[in-house]
Amino acid sequence: MRIAVIGTGNVGRATARAWAAAGHDVVLGSRDPGARKDVGAELGLPLAAVREAAAGAEVVVNATPGADSVALLRAAGADVLDGKVLVDIAVGYTVEPHGFVLTHAEVSLGEEIQRAFPAARVVKTLTTMDSVTMVAPGGLTGESTVFLSGDDPAAKKVTGALLTDLGWPESAHLDLGGIETARGQEHFAHMFVALAGALGTHAFNIRVVPPAAK
Ligand SMILES: NC(=O)c1ccc[n+]([C@@H]2O[C@H](COP(=O)([O-])OP(=O)(O)OC[C@H]3O[C@@H](n4cnc5c(N)ncnc54)[C@H](OP(=O)(O)O)[C@@H]3O)[C@@H](O)[C@H]2O)c1
Repeated sequence: MRIAVIGTGNVGRATARAWAAAGHDVVLGSRDPGARKDVGAELGLPLAAVREAAAGAEVVVNATPGADSVALLRAAGADVLDGKVLVDIAVGYTVEPHGFVLTHAEVSLGEEIQRAFPAARVVKTLTTMDSVTMVAPGGLTGESTVFLSGDDPAAKKVTGALLTDLGWPESAHLDLGGIETARGQEHFAHMFVALAGALGTHAFNIRVVPPAAK
């Protein structure tokens, strides 16, 4: 598929590299492609302005700071997102003296993006783990869970296939339901931070264990 990964940070670089390795046609979208030439060269992938990258893609991946994502996508132009699968990995937060604060504490960024771009087909996923685990789930000691939230079943199917390409077997995918369930994925960030502190590493994930069959 033609995938535009917006944001050239940890998540953007890791996912772009992994999807390109899986055979997808990947372009990185940046606020300043000229200043990020090193990233394009490191990954061997084309880099473009956000609007240009999104315009040519079938799937647009949001890997930007969640507090700024809507403004950034709006500046690129809502028309380039129309009808597209928008895989949203972002979480909005600030780090305050008293700790980590979510910018979408009542609802979710996923819902805000879906409301701002009603013709886009938003799927929230990969939010509940570190960027290393996102693209190498097999590096953990056992199978763990990756969540999907979104209103469009076909978009979730496309996203599920992209997760499989990152190494997530279908048995690891858990469809939580509509985009409002993105709240659970994003607000898990607090638990993620607590677990990372307790374990002394970000390289872990959680597994949902279903009840025994009756
Ligand atoms: N890191 C993780 O393990 C992890 C895990 C789960 C979720 N997330 C979420 O995924 C998103 C990306 O995380 P990340 O770790 O890749 O972040 P990052 O390293 O800070 O990179 C974010 C990228 O977004 C672009 N960007 C667009 N608007 C920006 C702005 N106003 N300020 C700064 N950068 C801006 C930048 O690329 P250009 O300069 O090229 O535009 C930047 O490199 C975040 O929402 C984060 O909460 C991260």
